[in-house]
Amino acid sequence: MENANIVLIGFMGSGKSSVSNKLGKALKKDVISTDRLIEAKEGRSIENIFKEAGEAYFRGVEGGVIREAVKNKGVVIDCGGGVVLNPQNVKNLKKTGVVFYLCARAEFLYEKIKDAKDRPLLEALDPLARMKELLQTRSPLYEQAADYVIQSENRTIDQMCQEILAIYDHA
Ligand code: S3P
Repeated sequence: MENANIVLIGFMGSGKSSVSNKLGKALKKDVISTDRLIEAKEGRSIENIFKEAGEAYFRGVEGGVIREAVKNKGVVIDCGGGVVLNPQNVKNLKKTGVVFYLCARAEFLYEKIKDAKDRPLLEALDPLARMKELLQTRSPLYEQAADYVIQSENRTIDQMCQEILAIYDHA
């Protein structure tokens, strides 16, 4: 599996970015964050893209960034939480990568991100209810897309990395 990409999916707050960065260091692989690539391409923050151009526009840019990211081999791809909404993204990611889903309940994820200001999808009167709603729709999509499900609840970044590395090494 040496040249396969490692692809991390999951809801906001599940630890994708921290785990990606740690895996990148451990394996000496480049890390590609779809959100950071989108921001670089657009020259504005995710928050501003949502505000100024809307979610549909953001999803379009996200799809293009994923098409580009999967042209790489042997990198870690840290995906935005909504990539699974478009089946074509999942197809593209699976072509060159092994997909790990970092999984947790909404209540746990909420505690992680409740103070963050940069999650436009959670700007709701009741962000926890919004998260539950989004997670309910997305959970089956994450599960279908995943080659492996990694429990993220109450686990350290190190523990998640160890588990992913063990799977990656033995596959
Ligand atoms: C989104 C998750 C965010 C970012 C955007 C939309 C989503 O990424 O792509 O705000 O739809 O869940 P993270 O999961 O990295 O926070």
